[in-house]
Amino acid sequence: MTIATRKIAILGSTGSIGESTVRVALASQGRIEVLGLSSHRRLKRLVEQAQQLTPEWIVATGGEAANFDWSGLPGSTRLLVGDEGISRLVRQPEIDIVVSAIVGSAGLAGTWNAVDAGKTVALANKETLVMAGPLVMELAARRKSRIIPIDSEHSAVFQALQAGRRADLKRIILTASGGPFRTWTAEAIASATIDDALAHPTWNMGRKITVDSATMMNKALEIVEARWLFDLAPEEIEVVVHPQSIVHSMVEFVDGSVVAQMSPPDMKLPIQYALTFPERREGPAARFDWTASHRLEFEPPDLQRFPALTLGYEVARAGGTSGAVLNAANEAAVEEFLSGQLSFAEIVPACRSVLEHHSFDSKPSLDDLLKVDRWARKEISRWVCT
Ligand SMILES: NC(=O)c1ccc[n+]([C@@H]2O[C@H](COP(=O)([O-])OP(=O)(O)OC[C@H]3O[C@@H](n4cnc5c(N)ncnc54)[C@H](OP(=O)(O)O)[C@@H]3O)[C@@H](O)[C@H]2O)c1
Repeated sequence: MTIATRKIAILGSTGSIGESTVRVALASQGRIEVLGLSSHRRLKRLVEQAQQLTPEWIVATGGEAANFDWSGLPGSTRLLVGDEGISRLVRQPEIDIVVSAIVGSAGLAGTWNAVDAGKTVALANKETLVMAGPLVMELAARRKSRIIPIDSEHSAVFQALQAGRRADLKRIILTASGGPFRTWTAEAIASATIDDALAHPTWNMGRKITVDSATMMNKALEIVEARWLFDLAPEEIEVVVHPQSIVHSMVEFVDGSVVAQMSPPDMKLPIQYALTFPERREGPAARFDWTASHRLEFEPPDLQRFPALTLGYEVARAGGTSGAVLNAANEAAVEEFLSGQLSFAEIVPACRSVLEHHSFDSKPSLDDLLKVDRWARKEISRWVCT
């Protein structure tokens, strides 16, 4: 039996995940049909994508949309503008799956509305679960919305879990490439430049997540994401450094058996899996050449040089407002680093300081989370100014 055509909307279609999703759809021979696209600033690219895919709707969220020349759009494509356009798009009855690939907390509203509308959500935007994991998972249960991870580690866990019963799970092991500074001394890391931080050894990604990989904050966010997505205690989540990025994560069952998911580092595979689940299909993702030699290495993470990981566990334990605070502080700190206002070495200490100074609430509402998000960003600005 083969699956029916999946009709999708891609939020953040002009980004790294968005572009890979477009490639997966184009290679699907019509089995994945793109009905909606959204972008923020790269409007020229959005129009090119619309010409290629003729979606029913596109959404432009950035301020430049009003003055942009939209004459290149296909006649059948409707233009929606602003964040309101995202809410309208994800609620369209024709859409089966919403790909959540906007970067940062800006991705929360679209994901929330898609879950609220009962859609299947193919989730790349890990920040949604870091900020509001318990609320989003509770809403998903109520609305019968399925969240399928795109993040390669969580996709690997999701895939490996199919090999056994959830009740027999002992723990999960998230792999981390270690980023560009895996072998650097603490002194060298302290003076890392923007170019150093953006030179990821195995993955080609957007700028924010690439810096997060360099601090290993990305893994910290993934610990929190896994905690809520798979309903795990923080003690059931382990991190191991695996420089080749071939084993994307593992699941250990109670009998000691470990099931790993392996593939070359190419996001098209987890994206396609999320879009065709439970079926697997031929696709455009890179494949192994088993005639060549391969080496797989694993080493424990160094918490002294990469203190972000400890923050990840603390936030996974604390829950409440702490995820939204860590996420916003990190987003703001990475922006300051990328604009030359903050040194690389200050990113994680600034996040810790903001986290430690916030007034913790164990049962926040969505509004409370948005408030602490704004507060944490202001605290980072104050840190930069002092
Ligand atoms: N890249 C990866 O391999 C990877 C792997 C795992 C998980 N993820 C996660 O996937 C998400 C996307 O990452 P990415 O690397 O694809 O990021 P990216 O390349 O920076 O793309 C971000 C996308 O979001 C849009 N966007 C930015 N700010 C926005 C705003 N304020 N409102 C609405 N849309 C906005 C951008 O539009 P414009 O470009 O038009 O401005 C772009 O389409 C992140 O949450 C990341 O953690 C990424």
